[in-house]
Amino acid sequence: MSRKILVTSALPYANGSIHLGHMVEHVQTDIWVRFQRMRGHEVWYVCADDTHGTPVMLAAEKAGITPEQLITQAREEHLRDFMGFGISYDLYYSTHTEETKHFANLIYTRLREAGLIDIRPVEQFYDPQRKMFLPDRFVKGECPRCHAKDQYGDSCEACGATYSTTELIDPYSAVTGAKPERRLSDHHFFKLGACAEFLKHWTRSGTIPLAAANKLGEWFEAGLSDWDISRDKPYFGFEIPGAPDKFFYVWLDAPVGYMGSFQHLAAQKNLDFDAWWGVDSEAELHHFIGKDILYFHSLFWPAMLARSGFRTPTQLHVHGFLTVNGAKMSKSRGSFITAGNYLNHLNPEHLRYYYAAKLNASVDDLDLSLDDFTARVNSDLIGKYVNLASRTAGFIRKRFTGRTARNLHAPAEDLVQRFRAAGDSIALAYEQGEFSKAMRDIMALADLANQYVDANKPWDIAKDASRDAELHAVCTACLELFRLLTLYLKPVLPKVAMEVERLLQIPELSWEAIDATVLDQPIEEYQHLMARVDAKQIEALLAASSETVKETAHKNESGKNESGKNESGKNESGESKSTKANPAPPAPFAETIGIDDFSKIDLRVGRILKAEAIPEADKLLKLTIDLGLEIRTVFAGIKSAYTPESLEGRLTVVVANLAPRKMRFGESQGMVLAAGDGQGIYILNPDSGATPGMRIK
Ligand code: 2FM
Ligand code: ZN
Repeated sequence: MSRKILVTSALPYANGSIHLGHMVEHVQTDIWVRFQRMRGHEVWYVCADDTHGTPVMLAAEKAGITPEQLITQAREEHLRDFMGFGISYDLYYSTHTEETKHFANLIYTRLREAGLIDIRPVEQFYDPQRKMFLPDRFVKGECPRCHAKDQYGDSCEACGATYSTTELIDPYSAVTGAKPERRLSDHHFFKLGACAEFLKHWTRSGTIPLAAANKLGEWFEAGLSDWDISRDKPYFGFEIPGAPDKFFYVWLDAPVGYMGSFQHLAAQKNLDFDAWWGVDSEAELHHFIGKDILYFHSLFWPAMLARSGFRTPTQLHVHGFLTVNGAKMSKSRGSFITAGNYLNHLNPEHLRYYYAAKLNASVDDLDLSLDDFTARVNSDLIGKYVNLASRTAGFIRKRFTGRTARNLHAPAEDLVQRFRAAGDSIALAYEQGEFSKAMRDIMALADLANQYVDANKPWDIAKDASRDAELHAVCTACLELFRLLTLYLKPVLPKVAMEVERLLQIPELSWEAIDATVLDQPIEEYQHLMARVDAKQIEALLAASSETVKETAHKNESGKNESGKNESGKNESGESKSTKANPAPPAPFAETIGIDDFSKIDLRVGRILKAEAIPEADKLLKLTIDLGLEIRTVFAGIKSAYTPESLEGRLTVVVANLAPRKMRFGESQGMVLAAGDGQGIYILNPDSGATPGMRIK
């Protein structure tokens, strides 16, 4: 039965470049979308730039252009990158549009009429010079715990403490440097708590992965707070109807951008908007998102929709973060790879395949190990797949006037049937987002095809003119196997698949074409389909990535948006404002102390048994550390530099007699020592042989 499926990827922020972290999501979505299209369903895939908010407003100001100009430029750049990777949106739009404004207003008005909007005063920092309220990320000052200077208004990068902006010592505005004042202003709140029962049910009804639903359970237990959906002028966004000088917070209109974009597409394609977004819609609505924005998509968004008379999403497909060579993408390590830089050096379909080979339906992080990437692409795509055609298509052209045989080589018939029979389980894997399983199954088939080639050695048969018929049948069988592999890989490798369709002179491969054949038909001359990855290309990419960082290092001091993300708008890049290409000069030495002072500090070797990310904290990892005498929990502000997996099992140095500190997420019972200059973070490791509990003197 044909399904109606509307699919979205999360909308990238306009004030940042597209990087390989974004590409995980857009490639993942695109593979799923292309698969569904091949199955014959009616699929629409929309995305847009997320354009509003203070960072865009200030970035435009700094660049001496209007926010409209900035978002126009950004959209062009983003589109170019996404097109480079073959992402097949039906529309890539913008949230700064009449359609999105219309639906934002409509939803807000309906929520207000339903008594779900509360207006009450909020006290906030205000920059008297710039005449604007300052989001937490735009207030800086001295950390109230460790007294490090120039820390952000909500957390300290030096010690990992989280606090409220009012606790900062000597706060100043990151916009002008002025001393901010505390001022009151009315804010509009969406009463999320009133939707708790609906949300508890919705989140347990198969709409989100079970692991994510369990996470939400914790949020429900903590109680759902009202959501502040307004910001004061000056703000780049939509003014709230009936509330002059108040604007919708960017996260209110961002998901509404899904609707606005679809509305625009509906007008272009003559689609009935209500059949897709009305409460009785029979269409499916699938959002692909990263785990960092689960809260917005599993609570605010369905509640907004349900309470304003629209349908709710069918499913959220939630992925983890990207790491490069086992660590968060880092500008200082040159592993912050933008989509544009990648495209300058490597084949986009190589990355599409590599991501597919690693993606599944879990929210686990995905590592792009560049050595593994090279090995896997060369062995699977070139060694097992492309070579099948390159070794056989030439014989058909040269020896058989470019026409395939009427019959398959008899010994290959079972194999071809086996290839066809694999279609259902490969389709199921695609459907369920288990792309890594699909790739494993396809490569297992490719192994069988290669065994068939090796057993029959067409290059040997070709030496004996009396065996022409056999050569013809063997090469035709190889092309049949190659055609089926291409069909199965088509959602991942659309460009190669198109070239193969041309080579084999066949109509666009759909899933139904599993039962077609290449028998007794002309084929085109074989053209090179894909080159190997060369280590030099990787080196050049990394070198170019460090270069780009040097160029942009000074560009965006205040590049964080209000939800605490970096300039690229993605947590998975893990970059903080302080990461630059060149190390800062060393800080001056501290005041001299005596040996007695020093010996008061009890430094011990510890082994990190477990490391866990705290999704609500930008900087913190929760470490469980064996100190020989006891196991301690330590919260360390090192999330931007290390993935949890890369720390587990490592030895480190711990201040064991530091008084325990209560933090928002629990008690921290010690401190892990790390070197840092406000740019990179490097934890200390004792030499091998040291054991947990050893004293450091
Ligand atoms: O996290 C982000 O990058 C946001 N710009 C995603 C918005 S998704 C949707 F809600 F629009
Ligand atoms: Zn601190």
